[in-house]
Amino acid sequence: MADQSFVTLATNDSYVKGALVLGSSLRNHRTSKRLTILITPHVSDPMRKVLEKIFDEVKLVNVLDSGDAAHLALLKRPELGVTLTKLHCWELTQYSKCVFMDADTMVLSNVDELFEREELSAAPDPGWPDCFNSGVFVYRPSIETFNQLLQLATEKGSFDGGDQGLLNTFFSNWATTDISKHLPFIYNLSSISIYSYLPAFKVFGTDAKVVHFLGRMKPWNYSYDSKTKSVKDTQDPTMAHPEFLNMWWNTFVTNVLPLLQQHGAIKDTATGVKAEEVTEAVSHMSISSPAQSNPPPSPPPMSSEERKERWEQGQADYMGLDSFDNIKKKLDTYLQ
Ligand code: UDP
Ligand code: GLC
Ligand code: MN
Repeated sequence: MADQSFVTLATNDSYVKGALVLGSSLRNHRTSKRLTILITPHVSDPMRKVLEKIFDEVKLVNVLDSGDAAHLALLKRPELGVTLTKLHCWELTQYSKCVFMDADTMVLSNVDELFEREELSAAPDPGWPDCFNSGVFVYRPSIETFNQLLQLATEKGSFDGGDQGLLNTFFSNWATTDISKHLPFIYNLSSISIYSYLPAFKVFGTDAKVVHFLGRMKPWNYSYDSKTKSVKDTQDPTMAHPEFLNMWWNTFVTNVLPLLQQHGAIKDTATGVKAEEVTEAVSHMSISSPAQSNPPPSPPPMSSEERKERWEQGQADYMGLDSFDNIKKKLDTYLQ
């Protein structure tokens, strides 16, 4: 359908990798909808060319940033201010209805049935289920709504500094008014939920339609071994269930990597290497961008969720973050 589209967002080349996997997964599962991506000026030219191979529309927008350090600090994700850029999706009025999906999501089956839902349909957030998670939502483009959202952002800000806080304030009756707007959790299954409710995952996880790699560690931050077709990082406790990560990487290697190579969008770390070794090289790759000659950023530090998971699995960082001194300091701040 020409007047309905899946929409995603990438403000840099790392998130483009995610968007390319998402787009490929939607194509592999034969969506009949259009694919649109919003990008910002930082996305490099070779990456834009590759995006045009998978997406019907690549739309350049300006960055909207909350710069809301206080709220983002509560979320422990200072980088998420730019997610307000997502609001531009309401400007796509050439479509009557859209489904927005974060660039760190991936579909496991055809999800075109989502377009039968109304604005604003979304699944509960695993951290606070009375809020919806804004990684997957059904909406109707409208300049009026876009302007109202911007106005709310300027006047009141967002309680989490990103789009999710703002959208939950704007669509504040989501939790109570219309159950058809509650998407089943299988449309936005976050890897975090697997560990917080494993028995439920064992029963319902097989029906998952969309996985969301929510949290600081994204699939593209891991290393992948194409020989064993598995992600390599034995230190990460979440690796107990690496199935979805392996699927992400498999799609990346099969559908995305050849396009990146064709368009010279990856540096020649991978040239002269046998096919099986390419992915390993690629897992450490930096995407070539004329403007950007710095080394690739190192993986971000652990989020408090990930740290809690490790702690709960008996893998506390006794010499570092979880040292006695640090714990004592933390207790002292509560006692003061
Ligand atoms: N995003 C982006 N650049 C950034 C951060 C976020 O393009 O630097 C976009 C991307 O589409 C991403 C979404 O905003 O999927 C939400 O951010 P993220 O997925 O990192 O948040 P999480 O789901 O982990 O809370
Ligand atoms: C969330 C959502 C993400 C959103 C971010 C900032 O955790 O998963 O889509 O951009 O919060 O509000
Ligand atoms: Mn996300």
